Amino acid sequence: MTAICVANNKGGVGKTTSVVNLAAGLARLGHTVLVVDGDGQGNATYALTGRIHPVPSLYDVLMEKATIQDVLWTTNEDNVWLVPGDARLQNVDVELAARAGREWKLARALAGQTFDYIIIDTPPSLGVLTQNALAAAHGVIVPVSLTEFSLIGMDKLLATIDDLGNELDIPDLRLLGILVTFYEENKTGRETYGILEKKFEDKLFATSIPKNLKLEEAHRRNESILAFAPNSPGGVAYAELAREVKKRAAAEHSPYSRRRAGAR
Ligand SMILES: Nc1ncnc2c1ncn2[C@@H]1O[C@H](COP(=O)(O)OP(=O)(O)OP(=O)(O)O)[C@@H](O)[C@H]1O
Ligand SMILES: [Mg+2]
Repeated sequence: MTAICVANNKGGVGKTTSVVNLAAGLARLGHTVLVVDGDGQGNATYALTGRIHPVPSLYDVLMEKATIQDVLWTTNEDNVWLVPGDARLQNVDVELAARAGREWKLARALAGQTFDYIIIDTPPSLGVLTQNALAAAHGVIVPVSLTEFSLIGMDKLLATIDDLGNELDIPDLRLLGILVTFYEENKTGRETYGILEKKFEDKLFATSIPKNLKLEEAHRRNESILAFAPNSPGGVAYAELAREVKKRAAAEHSPYSRRRAGAR
């Protein structure tokens, strides 16, 4: 099994949309997928189930009041399961601040899970929730919206992921890829894409996600784009992304395990 975290501290770049639709894409390639909603906004929970701020949730797992099994749900998508998130997650930074090993709560809770893929959504910040997601992940996908593109912000984000990897002592945490979102086929779009391509070379996913209103509509109907509009530009792109992610991060046949380097 492979755990992937989708992170960018910038808001509204398509993190949740990518988590939900990548999960659906991998499920349709025959894999079992667990989505972990690590964001107090609960958007992935809503997109996959229509429920708003359910309790218990991941919050209770992080507080060690519940196990993953206690909060494991089926979703509107076959072969996609969910550990939901609710608004109390927004307090996690404060509530876990003084606890030792606070970044490792999620990784520990997931130990032994046998899904082919675990995909973790994160809030637009680099606080304890994102640290837990990074510590629990084997690879990180960073979505970059071409409409709000800023190279300076990007460099800082990638440096921060590196720093967190070092700080958390997870040297093998790898950048799985940078994903262009909100792509528009025009001069600015092409130019910006070109800059990113030069800078990140093969770290840039060959698939980019076009700006497509169907994606937003699918979210509102609590369906993946692959259920709602598989032939829309967004649907075609996320199906393609799933194939690309599968190539970059093959699902290994071993139960989940992620530890701090040197820890037993
Ligand atoms: N490619 C796209 N084309 C059009 N709309 C999109 C696309 N991707 C996402 N959206 C819409 O844009 C909004 C922001 O997307 P999303 O929620 O996935 O971003 P996010 O990075 O998870 O945001 P946050 O940082 O607040 O968690 C949502 O309303 C979503 O439906
Ligand atoms: Mg989100």
